[in-house]
Amino acid sequence: MKYLAPLFFFLILAIACGSGEKTTPTSKKTTAPKPVEKVTASKTETTSAASVKSSSEEGKTEPVPKEQLDKAKKILKKVKDSEIAAVNAKKLFKIHCAVCHGFTGNMMINGAKDLTKSKISMEESVAQVYFGKGLMTPYKGVLKDAEIVALSKYVQEELRK
Ligand code: HEC
Repeated sequence: MKYLAPLFFFLILAIACGSGEKTTPTSKKTTAPKPVEKVTASKTETTSAASVKSSSEEGKTEPVPKEQLDKAKKILKKVKDSEIAAVNAKKLFKIHCAVCHGFTGNMMINGAKDLTKSKISMEESVAQVYFGKGLMTPYKGVLKDAEIVALSKYVQEELRK
């Protein structure tokens, strides 16, 4: 009996191991799929440094880039009062802007800003309409300079409360 105890032990062990292998025959064969190496573009384009500068001037979160403001200033200088007066800004606003801003400017469709609460300057407004911003499409080439100025004026003088 003295040698039987370890013998039994091994026997049980052998059975346990054998049956264990039988119940899970595929467990060791299946190899985990290798994680697919992601090839991602590591390069991220940096935004122009010019836009950072003017952020403190107005205390605004998203400043209009300086080169856009410069262009807006040129447009404002170039366009004559008579040209602005000749534009039916209300009609143009309904055609081009109301889709997102609503007839009264405060609709805020597609993430558009509430123009009745807008505090931006004429230059910023002209720049934004000319170049676009975020989801707002640019009107460069779509509207005449005088029309862009007239619309900015309309926003400032008629829509703001
Ligand atoms: C496609 C939708 C869309 C159209 C059309 C559109 N806008 Fe906008 N507008 C926006 C969005 C979106 C913003 C906010 C942009 C941002 O700051 O990211 C905005 C912002 C503005 C602002 C700046 C408000 C502020 O205080 O920052 C002005 C001014 C403005 N729009 C005027 C106009 C005028 C004028 C027209 C017509 C010529 C027009 N928009 C047409 C979507 C639009």
